Amino acid sequence: MEKLWTGRFSEALDKAADEFNASIRFDSKMVRQDITGSMAHAAMLGATHILPKEDSETIIQTLAEILADIESGKTAIDMSCEDIHMFVEQELTARIGDLGKKLHTARSRNDQVALDLRLYLRDECAEIMALLKDLLAVLCDKAEETSDALMPGYTHLQRAQPVTMAHHLLAYGMMFSRDLERLQDAVRRMNVSPLGSCALAGTTFPTDRALSAAKLGFDGVMLNSMDGVSDRDFVVELLSDFALIMTHLSRFCEELILYSSWEFKFIELSDAFTTGSSIMPQKKNPDMAELIRGKTGRVYGDLMAMLTVLKGLPLAYNKDMQEDKEAIFDGVKTVKDCLAIFAPMLASMSVYRENMLRAAKGGFINATDLADYLTKKGVPFRSAYKTVGQIVAACIQAGKTLEDMTIDEYQAYDAQFESDLYEAIAIPTCVAKRNSLGGASPDNIKIQIDYIKSKIEG
Ligand code: ARG
Repeated sequence: MEKLWTGRFSEALDKAADEFNASIRFDSKMVRQDITGSMAHAAMLGATHILPKEDSETIIQTLAEILADIESGKTAIDMSCEDIHMFVEQELTARIGDLGKKLHTARSRNDQVALDLRLYLRDECAEIMALLKDLLAVLCDKAEETSDALMPGYTHLQRAQPVTMAHHLLAYGMMFSRDLERLQDAVRRMNVSPLGSCALAGTTFPTDRALSAAKLGFDGVMLNSMDGVSDRDFVVELLSDFALIMTHLSRFCEELILYSSWEFKFIELSDAFTTGSSIMPQKKNPDMAELIRGKTGRVYGDLMAMLTVLKGLPLAYNKDMQEDKEAIFDGVKTVKDCLAIFAPMLASMSVYRENMLRAAKGGFINATDLADYLTKKGVPFRSAYKTVGQIVAACIQAGKTLEDMTIDEYQAYDAQFESDLYEAIAIPTCVAKRNSLGGASPDNIKIQIDYIKSKIEG
């Protein structure tokens, strides 16, 4: 393809430089957004009489045909073009001659690419938000199923206090609800139109930016043309939101990997989401969970790449900014792929209640409840804590649990111990009685599920 700028240049672009410079290999993904953006621009040129109405209509009509032909496979994208914007203009000109060359009036590739990316990411974010909602729905279902499945809660990966599987799962439900809100928020901030910023300083043509913005579903226009072409905050913001989604998925995957090991066996992932070994016949490996944990690194890398590209970049457009696309496209694909695998993997997981209960019964995870028992009888918490610490130490020495100690043995430590202590430290009681708001009790599970369902509907 002949370069657009041949007027100013006497020598052709070096072949390697041409390839190095080109972005069509990845920005052709935005063909639909590029054409839709151009149609809105052409409509604005017609409405403001910058172009005669018939010319604007011919351009819009032809752009619609080009899009249909590309989507049906009738027209192939010419990969020798520098980028998707050049391709669309070339195709338009091939179809309607010189009129096609008028489309770029009062526009630059700088505002065009900023526009395309916002439109593209708006569509992709809608898909990611739908995937997050699917995951939240799975979490609510699983929580309903496991609201009485007791398990140890951990701190420092040491058994700490009993919880239910539902409470544990819903902790992630809350994280993913915030991830959803963060995306909704970022999309709202991104949804303003840069179109009409032109190269960097606006234009002398009497454009109507609000008109093209409204046609494209934007909530408003960007008010500084230099910002309009230079801003990639929205890319960084989305990548950091994606990085957090991946962080949450990765922590969750780490737990699924750990809890499905023979050492725990709290859960088992279904055959559909695990693989065997090429040599060890007994193996069932959590490859999908491991891959999601591994792919988290890519998204952090994408975020870091984008922050680094922007750091120290003078206003306004610089070609460095072309690097935004591969980073964000990779982030989008990775998050989508991971969410799409994770939700059905979780939905098909089996929960081994007996193993979790056995673990919950070991490790003195009712020691806090024993201390609380004495505290409720007026013993200062710190003193009760110390007494129970001594009892735990004695139990460890004797190879016993708190439940094994006789009432006489208890009373030797504190006369206020009575036989109702056994009920107070029974694991189901420890969970049922933790009904402070946000605690592990079943009534709190219902509150959390209702809250998450309201986020899914909202
Ligand atoms: N392919 C370019 C990009 O992705 C489009 C904008 C080109 N603008 C320019 N002034 N060279 O950033």
